[in-house]
Amino acid sequence: MVGAASAEATAGASAQATGGHGANGKVGTSEAGAEGHARIESLLARMTLREKAGQMTQVTIHSLCDPGMDPKGPAVLDMGRLRHAVAEVGVGSVFNVAGRPLDFGEWRALLEEIQHVAVNESRLGIPIVFGLDAVHGSGYTKGATLFPHNLGLAATFRPELARAASRITAQELAACGVPWNFSPVLDVGREPRWSRFVETFGEDVHLAKRMGAAAVLGHQDVVGVAACAKHFLGYSAPATGRDRTTAWIPEGLLRDIYLPPFKAAVEAGVETVMVNSGDINGEPVHASRALLTDLLKVELGFKGVVVTDWEDVIKLHLIHRVAPSVRDAVRMAVLAGIDMSMTPHEFGFADHVVSLVEAGEVPLSRVDDAVRRILRLKEGLGLFEAPLPSVELPPDRERIRVSREAAAASLVLLENRDAVLPLRPETTVAIVGPGCDSAPVLSGPWSYSWQGDNPADYPKDAETIVSAWDKVVGDRRAPESADVIVLCLAEKPTVEKPGDIDDLGLNDEQQEFARGMLALGKPVIAVLLFDRPRVLEDWTRDCAAVIWAGRPGPFGAGALVDLLLGTFNPCGKLPFTYPRSTGEVIPYDHRLPDRLGKSYGARPDYAFDGWRPRWRFGAGLSYTSFRVEALSVSAGREGVKASVTLFNAGDRTGREVVQAYVRDHFASVAPRVERLAAFQSVELEPGRRIVIDLDLDDRVIGFHGRDGFVLEKGMFSVRVGDTAVDFELFQNMKRFSEWVDPSFIVS
Ligand code: NOJ
Repeated sequence: MVGAASAEATAGASAQATGGHGANGKVGTSEAGAEGHARIESLLARMTLREKAGQMTQVTIHSLCDPGMDPKGPAVLDMGRLRHAVAEVGVGSVFNVAGRPLDFGEWRALLEEIQHVAVNESRLGIPIVFGLDAVHGSGYTKGATLFPHNLGLAATFRPELARAASRITAQELAACGVPWNFSPVLDVGREPRWSRFVETFGEDVHLAKRMGAAAVLGHQDVVGVAACAKHFLGYSAPATGRDRTTAWIPEGLLRDIYLPPFKAAVEAGVETVMVNSGDINGEPVHASRALLTDLLKVELGFKGVVVTDWEDVIKLHLIHRVAPSVRDAVRMAVLAGIDMSMTPHEFGFADHVVSLVEAGEVPLSRVDDAVRRILRLKEGLGLFEAPLPSVELPPDRERIRVSREAAAASLVLLENRDAVLPLRPETTVAIVGPGCDSAPVLSGPWSYSWQGDNPADYPKDAETIVSAWDKVVGDRRAPESADVIVLCLAEKPTVEKPGDIDDLGLNDEQQEFARGMLALGKPVIAVLLFDRPRVLEDWTRDCAAVIWAGRPGPFGAGALVDLLLGTFNPCGKLPFTYPRSTGEVIPYDHRLPDRLGKSYGARPDYAFDGWRPRWRFGAGLSYTSFRVEALSVSAGREGVKASVTLFNAGDRTGREVVQAYVRDHFASVAPRVERLAAFQSVELEPGRRIVIDLDLDDRVIGFHGRDGFVLEKGMFSVRVGDTAVDFELFQNMKRFSEWVDPSFIVS
């Protein structure tokens, strides 16, 4: 079990919190906090039960639109439906896009119309909070900036880029009048078959935690915009590999791997959390009081709004079948701790809340707690003062600069045999493959549409790899007559259920095509434009170079051309383990038995050869070469610190990610072979050295065992590159501050 606490404790805890962003963007710290608090309490005192239930309801904008509107045109509101939803039912929130993406002005006009009705025609004049999926930039806004997906941002190992990209996304949303982004995805990407792998910050918990917290901060740097950490909890580990299916996650794993990014987001002040549509160990998360109330609201102290995912309350009845009726489903979800239900097409949820409270099946205090959280969100976003956020946008060139820089930094050079790259100026090139002339394969899902797969939806001048190449070089050959072939392999963008796959392998046609290109006997440079690591057969051995591009966004093509030509020096690192075969999906931080070879470990020289990933987590080449020198470890009450010197031993400036891994040699629970405990990206000129100090993440040095979290005594190593040093802990403890004598560390 995940800890215990009563619903009263939650309601009590939430009643203490005040404010919202305020001028400094921090929850509960603003001047307006006290005034806001008074407004919230006064509203709550005046609201009818029906109005409270309305606030807890969130509908898609389709429910307010003219059903006959052109689905390819802009959203057309139907005044009758708008008034019913917003003024009569008094829904607390509307979300989504209907019809084609809108430009900034169209969004504002649309939202002004909705807010006008909410503020002027509902009895208490409470504004709605509008939410959108701006998953890698505001993908439903014409003219907005798209960025690499989170997996690409993770490959940069630069939290400051995630923060900058999120800040721009939030500014662009605010310019549209949208105060709430359903982002970032904080699910840790441990299951490469899963259709939303590209939305994750990869397989490592420390990386996901730091990138995720930065994304939250970036959003909430913008006054008037809230982030949403999603999907709490364990969504990314479906046992079948398919979206929204059962995850089997023991408590230690849940806490060591899946929880930390959400904990970091709560600590960073995230205002809202969205729930996992699936179930963990058979318990649908939407019905889990242990997860939503005891863990999230009480143990982590989350004071914000818990919103369901799409229709998930109804699904407790229809799909999970833990509720014999929709009414029971509503009761279970509200008691579990959801505050707002993305219904999203109907208003039955509100009716059920009213009837459940009237029948004494849901305490009014639980409803008040939910509504208080919702009103506090609105207050913090400033919606009572100005129902639409506004912001001054940074200049276009600044927004483009960040997206371009993130795209370039997200490209991972995995192989570069005989230094085929960068290309020599006289080399002639053919660019081929399904990804070579497509804009959707660069941006992936959540771009101009949910699946992001329709080229017609993209701007007319959207770059593709060939158009970017033609702009810079202007000369391409047929593969038969070129010196080098750039082979652009691509997965069609998909997401959620439409993205379920039957086979992690890349389709036969593309593998055949790759073999055909290699048969021409020329150096082949493979570029992988995928939502997840699609398994490639052994022909990759014969490629001269391989580049993981993932979904780098609209500037990915130009960045790739720069990388090929050497005007950009690659620096991305793989944020996941690339499996060699579909039967061997093992993360880098596995346990030793997971890599035991067929010999049962009888012979020490090949005992652990059972793990041979195609490419390792953290891998990524540069056009210069770096050397790690003088690694040392020290420790004290503040934790374990490593210090390392990085030397650029090559002949050009480059960027390297210093990665420190910790190995626990023996432990009471089989230890993981190693875990990333710290990283830093640095740029260094040739011939220069830099000393880098790293604070190692104690959550990665310790683990959750039978008695909860423990930093267990024994020998450990810290590894950076090829060097490692040992240190020892002489006593078990929960925190480093419990150390009585720091001299026991050996380094
Ligand atoms: C379903 C997705 O799972 C979630 O990530 C998204 O935010 C909602 N739909 C709203 O579109």
